[in-house]
Amino acid sequence: MSMSRHQGQDDAVVYPYGSDAIGRSADHPADKASKINRGYPIPTGSKKPPIGTRTGQKTPPGPTLVQFFRLLPELLRDAPHVLLQLFQEYGDVVCLGDRRLRLFFILSHPQHIKHVLQDNYLNFSKGSIYDELRMIHGDGLVTSEGDMWRRQRKQSQPAFYHDHDEEYARIIVDATTTMLDRWTAVAQSHRALDIREEMRTLTLEILLKCLFSTDLAPVAEALCPALDLAEKHIHLASRLNPLKPLLERLPTPANLRFRRALRTIDHFAYGILQQRSQCPLHNGDFVSLLLAEEKNGGGLDDQHKRDAMITLVDSGFDSTAGAITWAWYLLSRNPGCARTLQAELRDVLHGRTPTFEDLPQLRYTRMVVQETLRLYPSAWAIARTVINDDEIDGYRIPAKSMIVISPYVAHRRVASWENPEGFDPERFSPERSENRSQFAYIPFGGGPRLCLGIRFALMEAELALATIAQRWRLDLLPGPPIGIKPTISLRPQSTIMMTLHSASGEGSDVVHAA
Ligand code: HEM
Repeated sequence: MSMSRHQGQDDAVVYPYGSDAIGRSADHPADKASKINRGYPIPTGSKKPPIGTRTGQKTPPGPTLVQFFRLLPELLRDAPHVLLQLFQEYGDVVCLGDRRLRLFFILSHPQHIKHVLQDNYLNFSKGSIYDELRMIHGDGLVTSEGDMWRRQRKQSQPAFYHDHDEEYARIIVDATTTMLDRWTAVAQSHRALDIREEMRTLTLEILLKCLFSTDLAPVAEALCPALDLAEKHIHLASRLNPLKPLLERLPTPANLRFRRALRTIDHFAYGILQQRSQCPLHNGDFVSLLLAEEKNGGGLDDQHKRDAMITLVDSGFDSTAGAITWAWYLLSRNPGCARTLQAELRDVLHGRTPTFEDLPQLRYTRMVVQETLRLYPSAWAIARTVINDDEIDGYRIPAKSMIVISPYVAHRRVASWENPEGFDPERFSPERSENRSQFAYIPFGGGPRLCLGIRFALMEAELALATIAQRWRLDLLPGPPIGIKPTISLRPQSTIMMTLHSASGEGSDVVHAA
């Protein structure tokens, strides 16, 4: 197995605007030794020496088996908070479960996370916990391993190259502006908006247009609810239940609804593939990449093309919608930050809509997105299965156990973050990010399986936020703080209803709560 199998441009991670996801220069000396995605072989187990600082083979602290079973219902209902409590009680390495059933290790220290996702990633596979996601994605990029993963990653990468940046930015701003024109009418009718639904529709429209050259309108009515239902149906933590494979085969109403949703999703993907094979469009979008491979004799079969497309839709739109939604929520609760954002938009844009070229100047906008993803990381858990026995911090990590890394917990680790529960975008300024370990901030994961859409997602969130905030200030309807609902992504527990107010502050507010 050679380290140079897929080295080079194709897999190089180039962060937008010359800095990394945590605000530091990509050439920061602290990261020179650990540049991500330089070219990685596939996970098959590794004999690399462990990173442990102690040499013992002790088991890490954690609840007893009885306590674990008592925790299980709460873990299934609200895993991020339970994982956070376990971290606060037991520390950076927590052990759950039992050797005869299965052992789970919760890791929160940046070095340990780096060990699993990057340094010794060959020893960690995605494993059976991703079976939940496989029910929707099939064998797509997020869930596949080995040759299939490597082949798909290489094939998908060009859809995210820099040469698309300007076009994608234009699509993002155009779609957002069209949505805002609709909002003006909503404002005149004095209604509050369900902001998450608005952001979901927007990000789905942008994704379909950029990657599939498809308009949302013809599919919106069926596709949006089908994706919503499918995502609500699956639950990573439910794989802790040993009866799960049996339960999912029963013809319960929920299972039948899920199967209907999957049929709608399939219909959408196969419909686009059929349309595009009949009327080819060689514009370098994701579908043309899939079809070009076929022509060159190295194509995926129809099922795998479907999986590749649905993986991008499902990974890409709700996660980004979540980030923008939570940003509005946080800005509304922190009016000082909202005012700083407005001031930046006035200074940089002088009233015109943003473009790709404006992004490097929109520093505060970017920090708002980064800080939102720290507090509300859409992907709240990253799981891996241990291939060969390993050792972390002097603890033995046996083969077949499961590693759980929760960005929700890692982003609240007091040793990494000052005042972790506070909303403080400026913590992502280059000066304050300088000494931060790269793996303290992991909303997009890390190592060879770093999010493929990281640049796309950041650009989309920043441009959409800037375009909207230029025209409107969004205020939450009065009510208690909104909690989280961890499905496959970190959703708000209830709808986030917001009212629109003119950003220029001129005249009276445009809309009031209905
Ligand atoms: C704010 C938005 C997003 C967040 C927080 C996010 C987060 C993540 C995370 C944490 C992973 C790593 C999972 C793991 O290691 O197990 C990941 C992988 C992935 N993401 Fe994203 N993502 C976002 C947006 C997107 C977008 C817009 C796309 C594409 C349009 C996308 C496509 C993917 C794909 C294909 C993978 C699998 C990469 C691989 O395994 O090689 N994501 N994402």
